[in-house]
Amino acid sequence: MRISQDKIVEIREANPIEEVIGNYIPLKKAGKNYKGLCPFHLEKAPSFIVSPEKGIYHCFGCGKSGNVFTFLMEYNNMSFYEAVRELGNRVGIRVEVVEDANKELYRANEFVASLYHSILLSESGTPGHEWLRKRGILDDTANKFMLGYAPEQPIIWNKAKTNGFKQKDFEVLGLLIGVRDAFRRKVIFPIRDRLGRVVGFGSRVLDDSEPKYINSKESLIFKKRRLLYGAYESRSELRKGATLVEGYMDLLSVYQTETKNVVASLGTSFAQEQARYLKGYTKSVIIAYDGDDAGHKATERAIDILLEEGFDVKVLRFPDGDDPDSWVKKHEKLDLSEAQSFMEFKFKECSDITEKETLIREFQETLSKIADPLKKELWADEISKKLEIRKEFLVIEKVVPKRNRVAENKKLEDLEAELLGIAATYPKVREFLIKEKFEVLTEELKTSLALVLQGEASPEVLSSISSEKLRERFTDVLFREDTDYEKLGKDYLNRIRAERTKIERKGLSSEKINKGESEILRKFQDLKRQELFLRGG
Ligand code: UTP
Ligand code: MN
Repeated sequence: MRISQDKIVEIREANPIEEVIGNYIPLKKAGKNYKGLCPFHLEKAPSFIVSPEKGIYHCFGCGKSGNVFTFLMEYNNMSFYEAVRELGNRVGIRVEVVEDANKELYRANEFVASLYHSILLSESGTPGHEWLRKRGILDDTANKFMLGYAPEQPIIWNKAKTNGFKQKDFEVLGLLIGVRDAFRRKVIFPIRDRLGRVVGFGSRVLDDSEPKYINSKESLIFKKRRLLYGAYESRSELRKGATLVEGYMDLLSVYQTETKNVVASLGTSFAQEQARYLKGYTKSVIIAYDGDDAGHKATERAIDILLEEGFDVKVLRFPDGDDPDSWVKKHEKLDLSEAQSFMEFKFKECSDITEKETLIREFQETLSKIADPLKKELWADEISKKLEIRKEFLVIEKVVPKRNRVAENKKLEDLEAELLGIAATYPKVREFLIKEKFEVLTEELKTSLALVLQGEASPEVLSSISSEKLRERFTDVLFREDTDYEKLGKDYLNRIRAERTKIERKGLSSEKINKGESEILRKFQDLKRQELFLRGG
């Protein structure tokens, strides 16, 4: 169900963005805009800008951007509908109660989780139950995490069809293919979101076949990069810090020891979104990845991401060939007091200058992720002692050049999103796009372009872009000082055309050009010339 666009605009206009955000974080006036410390990442100097005139906010530190609604959605972890209703209430505009569009998907997932769980505990679940026992998983743990077993025989649809479910919902969730079960002869790990709803599943084969693990497919409610396995179950323990492991089995084994503050990163490499998820609970993490090369590489990446998000980071190392699961089997528990600082983990003895230079540059990069000036200073001190190098070689401030023209080497979808941002904010640019019959190639931006051309304001257009990355592009370009946006808009249009011409030119078969098919050759040269001209070369 939907809320009418008119109502959304009415509510947005009745809720000045600086007032709404000002209720949550202190804002200071800065020219036409307001500035404050970004609530979405840790920072000491304000890079979070709110524009009353444009009705949007943008953080130059972490890139988060949006309108009054997305602010409440992110800040309070609300759905769009809840945010609209909340702001409606604030100004006395009623929004009718409608059902959460995804409610049926959650219900279907919950149903399948309990179905597989009850099977695990029944006779037909013996293969799965036995496997878990052999791996040392206790029944208490299986119950707490609602572990399950997907049997050989199809089962979901038979049970679900008499319970008022739609087959399509299970297909969307990747649990049914037609009426056949997607998972068969597998141990099942339900994955819950922050609110405890089952959003997806992990699964493991019982033998040595590949792939060992498969997750149910990404859907509207299952975004792997935004979730951490076990975070819901261990939420009350996470205040004291989190132990981050790679796998489902690592998590379960560790949870059975005294270490209950454990989360796992779902088979993808640890993502920034996952770090932000964790920030809701704690500011310190011990990374406990596998003791192999892949585990070490993944640890390096996770260190940088966690530092960038303001965490205190330590690493617990395992001997090559061990992971938290196998370690716990041998030694009963993890010895977290053995965890090293991220510095100790990254440090290597160097045998020559080249190696040392590489190591210093790696530390420069990692230090540059720490935003907090005090932490940065303290670590720079430590690291300079450890590496025996003067501190000024460690702290390299990156200079961000100011530009008035479009930056080089941008992707077409980014260019298109930025131009839409300009056009939604500056009517002259919009009229220009109408006159030039501008179209976008990026599928995700087609609706947004239609809204721009209809004259919708930037906050509404922004809501129509589902990719966070593209939303960031849309607002990023709107906060430049001393910019002639009309000129910049035209520059964008030319750049986009040049980009498309390039794509078209590359599409012309080089084979035919080699054969000297004169017509194609001429076309190729034309396109090349056009491209150079459009680039303003
Ligand atoms: P590992 O390969 O380290 O497995 O994958 P493991 O945790 O030691 O598993 P066991 O002990 O053999 O059962 C770690 C994690 O990477 C993801 C899963 O999330 C797994 O828990 N993974 C691994 C996949 O998604 N697919 C795979 O094929 C393998
Ligand atoms: Mn492992």
